[in-house]
Amino acid sequence: MRIYECAGYDAMSRQAASLIAAQVLLKPEGVLGLATGSTPIGLYRQLVAWHRQGVVRFAGIRTVNLDEYLGLPPTHQQSYRYFMQQHLFDHIDIKAENTHVLNGLAPDPQAECAAFDRLIRDLGGVDLQLLGMGHNGHIAFNEPGDNFGLGTHVVTLSERTIDANQRFFDRREQVPRHALSMGIKSIMGARRILVVVSGADKAEAVYQAVAGRVTDQVPASILQLHPDVTLVGDTAALSKLKKEGVPLCG
Ligand code: GLP
Repeated sequence: MRIYECAGYDAMSRQAASLIAAQVLLKPEGVLGLATGSTPIGLYRQLVAWHRQGVVRFAGIRTVNLDEYLGLPPTHQQSYRYFMQQHLFDHIDIKAENTHVLNGLAPDPQAECAAFDRLIRDLGGVDLQLLGMGHNGHIAFNEPGDNFGLGTHVVTLSERTIDANQRFFDRREQVPRHALSMGIKSIMGARRILVVVSGADKAEAVYQAVAGRVTDQVPASILQLHPDVTLVGDTAALSKLKKEGVPLCG
């Protein structure tokens, strides 16, 4: 795993955006796996800025998103489809039909998940998968204890994740209890993985994921077994790794 330390959130966002831009320039018809959460917002902003400056085009790019809340319509301000439109898709030249986000209102959620796995296969697999990380080491919505062998599936969110995501809703009761999520198996199938982490509150999860045992109790620890992972973090998020002497790049 390559680990890059950046001075702060803005530097982390620029570094991660440059890796995504490089991927797009190298394979303009490629497939990007995209993520939501607060961490990637800065890198999407940077990609939009570079697009406006003519540095990078997305006209041939196809995207799949990691996850979506079950029960939220795409027009809901907290749905991940809405997030992607607001932070990226509405500001770049990507074709709407090439952006794929799970449908949180699908009448048959299991069928929606199976169709998503078929879609990823039909697209030829994911070239670069972007990931954030939850405080308990979750990736996408794969919570501690979830089966590593699953493709896209319906998940029950942990209380800790509901707590963390409560800040985006008016009341805790409004946070959905379930989501549709690409599984660990789907994520590990990507040819390259890029993880972004920011803030001291992620330092323990980052340390466990990178230097701890590979265990389903820390879903991100499975990334140690992937051959091509780059983690870009700010100094605060990497603080425990540094304290414990884990080698970083550069
Ligand atoms: C949610 C998302 C994850 C994301 C995580 C961390 O649970 N499903 O994909 O990585 O939040 O989000 P944040 O970047 O806001 O800390």
